[in-house]
Amino acid sequence: MHKGFILRIILTAVVGLAFFAGAEQQTQAGDNPGKTAFLSNKCTMCHSIQSEKIEKASGGYQTSKERNVPPDLSGIGKKHNAEWFAKYLKHQEELNSLKHAKTWRGTEEQLQALAKWLEGLK
Ligand code: HEC
Repeated sequence: MHKGFILRIILTAVVGLAFFAGAEQQTQAGDNPGKTAFLSNKCTMCHSIQSEKIEKASGGYQTSKERNVPPDLSGIGKKHNAEWFAKYLKHQEELNSLKHAKTWRGTEEQLQALAKWLEGLK
């Protein structure tokens, strides 16, 4: 009986801690699901967004001769709309006859949130 009680306390503490850690991560990633998708899908390996204070990851992609330099995405919403972003990231749309350098690996839901968020960067 005593054992069960202690086990319950431990379990409550672990669940509480996990919740707390999850909440912490959420604030770090940003409260917008599109921004979270941008960060969690490693877009920062290549792109910065200065206007959002998002830096390119140190040790990120180095430019090669075959590809253009990944641009900073500040104000990118002035150039394309959400529909274009979603298509481009899924390789259904090209930029200067080039498909995007990264293959999309996230969910469709994340992609829609990301596309909308990028559209809002004006
Ligand atoms: C491996 C490097 C790499 C990664 C990772 C990457 N990109 Fe790119 N991206 C590029 C390059 C390079 C370009 C410029 C076009 C080209 O040369 O293909 C580009 C272009 C773009 C453009 C079009 C910019 C314009 O001026 O029209 C958008 C939007 C974009 N990327 C969004 C993203 C998002 C969102 C992610 C994360 C899911 C991402 N990129 C991940 C390399 C990358």
